[in-house]
Amino acid sequence: MKKYATTLGLLLLGLTFLKSQPLHQSVLLQYDKQIDDIIRQMTLDEKIDMLHAKHMFTSAGVPRLGIADMIYADGPFGIREEMQPDGWAGLGWEKDKATFFPTGSALAATWSPELAYAYGTGMAAEARRRGKDMLLGPAINIQRIPTGGRTYEYLSEDPFLSSRLSVAYTQGVQDNGVAVCLKHFALNNQENNRGTVNVIIGERAMREIYLPPFEAAVVEADAYGVMAAYNKVNGWWCAENDLLLNQILRKEWGFAGMVISDWSGTHSTVDAINHGLNVEMPTKQFLGAALLDSVKAGIVSEAVINERVKEILRVRMAIKPIPAEEANQIMTSQPAQQKIAYDVASKSIVLLKNEGVLPLDLSRKPVIAVIGANATQIMATGGLGAGVKTLYEVTPLAGLQDRIGDKAELRYAQGYVPVVYRWGRRTPEQIEKEQQENDIKSKQLAKEAIEIASQADLVLFVGGDNRAVETEGRDRETIELPSGQDDLIRQIAEVNNNIVTVLVSGAPNDLKVVQPISKALLISWFNGSEGGHALADVLLGNIAPGGRLPFSLPVNLKDSPAYALGNYPQGDKGGDVFANLVSESASSGKAKQSESDPNAAYYSEESLVGYRWFDTKKIPVMYPFGYGLTYTQFAYSGLKTEQDTYASDEVISLSVEVQNTGGRPADEVVQVYVHRIDGSVAWPEKELKAFARVSLQAGEKQTVQLNVPVKSLRYWDETSHTWKDDLCNIELLVGASSGDIRLTRKVTLH
Ligand code: BGC
Repeated sequence: MKKYATTLGLLLLGLTFLKSQPLHQSVLLQYDKQIDDIIRQMTLDEKIDMLHAKHMFTSAGVPRLGIADMIYADGPFGIREEMQPDGWAGLGWEKDKATFFPTGSALAATWSPELAYAYGTGMAAEARRRGKDMLLGPAINIQRIPTGGRTYEYLSEDPFLSSRLSVAYTQGVQDNGVAVCLKHFALNNQENNRGTVNVIIGERAMREIYLPPFEAAVVEADAYGVMAAYNKVNGWWCAENDLLLNQILRKEWGFAGMVISDWSGTHSTVDAINHGLNVEMPTKQFLGAALLDSVKAGIVSEAVINERVKEILRVRMAIKPIPAEEANQIMTSQPAQQKIAYDVASKSIVLLKNEGVLPLDLSRKPVIAVIGANATQIMATGGLGAGVKTLYEVTPLAGLQDRIGDKAELRYAQGYVPVVYRWGRRTPEQIEKEQQENDIKSKQLAKEAIEIASQADLVLFVGGDNRAVETEGRDRETIELPSGQDDLIRQIAEVNNNIVTVLVSGAPNDLKVVQPISKALLISWFNGSEGGHALADVLLGNIAPGGRLPFSLPVNLKDSPAYALGNYPQGDKGGDVFANLVSESASSGKAKQSESDPNAAYYSEESLVGYRWFDTKKIPVMYPFGYGLTYTQFAYSGLKTEQDTYASDEVISLSVEVQNTGGRPADEVVQVYVHRIDGSVAWPEKELKAFARVSLQAGEKQTVQLNVPVKSLRYWDETSHTWKDDLCNIELLVGASSGDIRLTRKVTLH
C-alpha cells in the first residue's frame, strides 16, 4: 500500500513539475549556444575533469580551449587564507590577510538588507583581489537548535529574515563579479553527526521553513552556485538528492548554475551525477575515474555529463577569471571593506537590558574594571572550519581604549580561563591534568578580577562563548556560559553590583544568572575586524544600539522545540509515528529512509521552529525573537491598510506611524507578523512577513510603508505537493519584536 502511495505521490509530483514553468529565468542561460559549441569540441576526459576537484579549492577548466579553472574561497565572513593545494594547512603568506566581517548572526541582527548588500560587495571586492571566482557563502541554514555549532555563521531562526538577507548578500557579491555558493543545501541544521544524520522531515516544514532562504536567493537574486549539504534528507544524501537538486532547485526554481558537494560530502557516482551534482569537492573518488568508467560502460549517459558540464560553464562564462599574475598582489583588506565591517558591527549590537547605566557616563573619569577573556580574545579564528587571517581585529578592550583615551581609567582582568580548541584526541590523563591546572588558574584569575572589581566604579564584564565553543563539526552540549562565568559574575556582584555585561557570542546563551545580576546586558556577536570600536561606540552612546535578536533566547535549553520533543539530541521519541506519517505522504516524492534508522533526526516539531514554537505553545522566553532596546523609545500609531479585503494576487500594503519619542537619534526595526484567525489548516501563532529598519531623529515621526504579498501567506499542501492559498481572516500584528506587538489590524483574504 505504502509503495503505491509513494508511486502516486511521485506521479503527482511529476505532473506538477511538467505543468509549471520554473519560477525564474536565469541570466546564465544566455551563454548556452556558445557553450554548446565548446562542449562539441571537448573530449570526454576533459568533461570528466571538470566534475571533480583539481585541488582543495579549485576545479578544472579546459586549458586547451582557454577555459580557466574555477577557484573557490571560504567562506561566509571573510576570504580565507591561502591554503596548500592539497591540504588544510595555510601557506603562510603575508598577502592573504583579509577583512574579518561580522559573522552571520551579527549580520542578521542588523535586520538590514542594505547592509547585507554592502557586506556582499565587500566580500566580492576582497575575493576578486585574491583571484577567486566563487565565494563559499552565504551560509543560510535555519538556526533550528540553539546549540548548533554553526549558529554563528547562519543568519536566523526565521525563514523570512534569512531570505531577505540572503537575497541582498547574494546580489552584493554577484553584482561585483563573484559567484556565490549558497550553503548548505539543505537541512544541515546540526553539526553533531552532520556526515551521517538522516533528516526526516515533512514537506510542509521543508518548504515553509528550511528552503525559503535558498529559494529566494535563487529566484530573486539568481544565485550561481549551491553547495550540497553533508546530511541526508529523507533517506537521500544531499549530494545525490534528485528531489532537492533536480526537481526543486533546477526545475522548479529555475537554478541554472552549478552544485558542488560539501568537502568530502559525495557518496556515489551514478546517483550523484544523475541527480544533479556538478562537482565533487575536494576529491575525485566518485566523479573521477569511476565516472569515466560509468560513462564508457553506458551506465551514465553522455547527455547527463554534457548537461552538468554546461551548468559549470555557464558560471564560468558569467564570472571573469582574474589572471593569475593580477591576483594576490596587494593586501586584500581595504578601508572601504573595513568601513562596511564597522557599519554592520555597529548596527548589529543588541541591547537586552538597561537600567539607566548606558550610555556610560565618563564625566567623573570613572574607574572601569573590564573583566573577561573575551575582552581581549580574537574571534576571526579559533575553531574548526573557515576562519579569516584578519589584517587586524579590534577587540572590545582595544576598542574601549581607543575611544575612551584618558576619559576613564580602564583596569583589565581576564577573570576566567577561556575554552581552547584542541585538535586530535587527548588521553583521560591529559584531560584531567589540564582540568586541574585550569582550576588552579581559574581561582587565581577570579581572585584578581574580584580585587579590581571591588575598587572600580563600574564593572564591564565581557564574556560569552568564543570560536572554540561555537565551532563547525560539533554542537554545544549546553547553552550555559562556558568557563564558570556564571560563578565568577556572582562573586563579582558581591563586591560591586554596578555591572554591565557584554556577551561576545554568536548563538544563544543561558541568561538566568547574568540577566538579573547585570544592570545592562548586550550581545555584541563575533563582530569582525571593527567589532571593538563598534561596541565602544554603543557603550559610550556615540551611536544608539540598533540590533535586534535574529533568534529567540529561551529561558531553558529544554524549552526549545527540538529539545522539548526529544528530537535533539537524536532520540527516537515520537520518531516512528512521525516517520510513518512522512513516508505515507510520499514524503517529497522519494522517501528512502527505513523506519528505524539509527541516524534519523526527526523534525516532528515541523514548522514550529524558534518563536513559532514558543508563541504557539505559550512558553515564556528570556527574550523574544526580534527584541532589542535602544537609548530612546518609539511610539507606534495609525496602522492602516488600503483595503479591508485582499485577493490572492494582491499585495497588502500597510502603513504605520513611528515616532522617536526620546532625546536621541536611533534606529527602530518595525516588524509585521501575521496571525491567521480562522485558517483552514494549522498555523503557527504568528509569522514574520515584513520588516523595515528606519532611522529617526529625536522627536521625528515617520510613516513606514510595508508590503505583504498575499502569495507570501500560502502554505505547502502535502497532498497535492503544491502551494495553496488559505483564504481566511488574518490579523496583521505590528510591533517591535515577536513579544511586543503594538498595533493590530484585521483583514480578509478572499
Ligand atoms: C564546510 C563548508 C566549507 C568547506 C570548505 C566544510 O567542512 O562545511 O562550509 O565551505 O568545508 O572549507
